[in-house]
Amino acid sequence: MLELINLTKEFGTRKILNEVNLKVSDGEIVSVIGMSGTGKSVLLKTIIGLLSADGGQIILDGTDITDFTEQEFNQFVRPNMSMIFQEGALWDSMTVGQNIDLALKFQKHLSEEERRKRITESLKMVGLPPIHDEYPEELSGGMMKRVAIARAIATRPKYLLYDEPTTGLDPVLSNMINELIMRLNSELGTTSLVVSHDIEGVERISNRVAMLHRGKIVLTCDAKDMRRQDNEIFNNFIQGKVYFK
Ligand SMILES: Nc1ncnc2c1ncn2[C@@H]1O[C@H](COP(=O)(O)OP(=O)(O)O)[C@@H](O)[C@H]1O
Ligand SMILES: [Mg+2]
Repeated sequence: MLELINLTKEFGTRKILNEVNLKVSDGEIVSVIGMSGTGKSVLLKTIIGLLSADGGQIILDGTDITDFTEQEFNQFVRPNMSMIFQEGALWDSMTVGQNIDLALKFQKHLSEEERRKRITESLKMVGLPPIHDEYPEELSGGMMKRVAIARAIATRPKYLLYDEPTTGLDPVLSNMINELIMRLNSELGTTSLVVSHDIEGVERISNRVAMLHRGKIVLTCDAKDMRRQDNEIFNNFIQGKVYFK
């Protein structure tokens, strides 16, 4: 289980995350929705230790990882948790195989042959052929996204953090990525935290949904109950209405 307790992150005098509380139980898909610029990416980056928290706690499987050093994150957290960045974050100068291999560099127990096998398996899991030797620029947007997901699952992590996995994709590709997120959860037994503003996708794939607004989680509910909430900010957001308050 991943548990955020009063998690706070500030940049200068701006409190981007202001005592955020959220629990993600094993096997769940939990989505965080919220307006652009509200701190969704900051939330994921803080959880995986790319940004440091200014207050509160991040509890991962019972261990408080909030103040872990970079070395501790590499050793204990990142083999168990991967983030899929919004832009995909593949290195253009490296082949698909090399990009995925980067994720395996801390897995010292794997031989080169085992790593290559793991890369092939990961590509297969996301529905791609063994395109080890191709370069990212030769791939379509949907394929690039899948390679980024293949890299994230190469270590067989328990936790996956997805940052806007369907943003910028057409409806067919969005659907495919949403299906993939669900399939990985059931086939690999992962637990996922998804940041998105694809409301219909969120409704379909998530167990629970939380809304981040002005640094706070203003509402958490079961995804199936999303259309029956008594919260104006949340209702306006999922109906695509502009909220001025
Ligand atoms: N490294 C940083 N330094 C300073 N401000 C940042 C940094 N990263 C994000 N921010 C600010 O934090 C706010 C939330 O950003 P972000 O989490 O990217 O929003 P979103 O919900 O769209 O993902 C934005 O105002 C952004 O400018
Ligand atoms: Mg973002």
